[in-house]
Amino acid sequence: MNVPTSPAPDLAGKHIVLGLSGGIACYKAADFTRELVKAGATVQVVMTEAAERFITPVTLQALSNRPVFTSQWDAREANNMAHINLTRAADAIVVAPASADLMARLAQGRADDLLSLTCLARPIERCPLLLAPAMNREMWAHPATQRNLAQLRADGTTILGPGSGDQACGEIGDGRMLEPTELLAELIAFFQPKLLAGRRVLITAGPTFEPIDPVRGLTNRSSGKMGFAVARAAAEAGASVTLVAGPVHLPTPRGVTRIDVITARQMFDAATRAAASSDVFVATAAVADWRPVAFNDHKIKKRPGAKAPPSFELTENPDILTTIARLDKAPYCVGFAAESHDLLEHAREKLERKGVPLIVANLGPATFGQDDNMLTLVDASGERELPRADKLTLARTLVAEIARRLGARA
Ligand code: C5P
Repeated sequence: MNVPTSPAPDLAGKHIVLGLSGGIACYKAADFTRELVKAGATVQVVMTEAAERFITPVTLQALSNRPVFTSQWDAREANNMAHINLTRAADAIVVAPASADLMARLAQGRADDLLSLTCLARPIERCPLLLAPAMNREMWAHPATQRNLAQLRADGTTILGPGSGDQACGEIGDGRMLEPTELLAELIAFFQPKLLAGRRVLITAGPTFEPIDPVRGLTNRSSGKMGFAVARAAAEAGASVTLVAGPVHLPTPRGVTRIDVITARQMFDAATRAAASSDVFVATAAVADWRPVAFNDHKIKKRPGAKAPPSFELTENPDILTTIARLDKAPYCVGFAAESHDLLEHAREKLERKGVPLIVANLGPATFGQDDNMLTLVDASGERELPRADKLTLARTLVAEIARRLGARA
């Protein structure tokens, strides 16, 4: 039976010090706090005096369920050292929004309010600092800010964004703070082990659509969710990821380069072009095996009185995985087998026929469109079952397995 599993909260057990400096993007920090809490993190908010002009500590206390700290003279701490105590159990400090002024102060190593003091006093080896800049585009582009940014990066600070687009001041350009969901995705990715750092990963995902006429075609029920999860997991693991996607309505995972295609031949062209510069190829796409030989320029109409339905001659599509696996400098290739029965037998046969080192087997009807799945990894040395879980969890395990095999090959 299909019992849906809810994804494990991605930040479970993480303690985050969330700093707010002064800027209109403070309004987004309320939502970000909620996102962090929903993702399982405990959140300790620290605000500058300027931040308090934009949003009240009451709001952030209610959302984080913890009293907010705003002053280095706060007498609530027994030792009166909030700036020390706050980070000793923290997994990271995230400052969102990080104003131009705060960045300048941090780059200088100043400690003239609780937030800058806390950043300076953190144990630098085990409590990373992440900043989400938020400012007007001219302030962002100013050589002084760019100089501070370079210094902060050199000191090991991670910069999240900024985004580009409409700004609260009415101007358009770089400097707006990332949206709360984007910040959350960045933070979750930050905590993932960088198992594929420096690797280039190519992924095909989703179904293909083979047109019969301008309104009809042959396709299948693949949702693309597994392939998109693998793309996200690979990007989180530090890879540079190219995702060749058939027609699906899924958002592109952050940091992933996406190429949209419709037909199997388009997917073949895009994937074989990218394969030469890839270290890993994961073929999750449910590529249509056949396509109609002819395309009707006009919609095929029912003819009154004609009893026989139209018939179509089909021809086989090229096999993307087999072609890429046989390249001279083939990337490490991983195939998927979606079957309705005799899963392992089919997976082993596919391993041989496609000439790939790893096949991921799953039951097609149980996975198409679902948020969770069960996988069996099949290779020359045996089988490993990945128990039912959400697709992102499975994708992360698969990425770790691929990284391990790449390491063993090197
Ligand atoms: O042969 P079959 O379709 O069962 O094999 C499935 C595996 O091969 C999947 O990894 C799928 O993405 C890949 N494939 C492909 N090109 C095709 C057909 C399948 O890359 N034309």
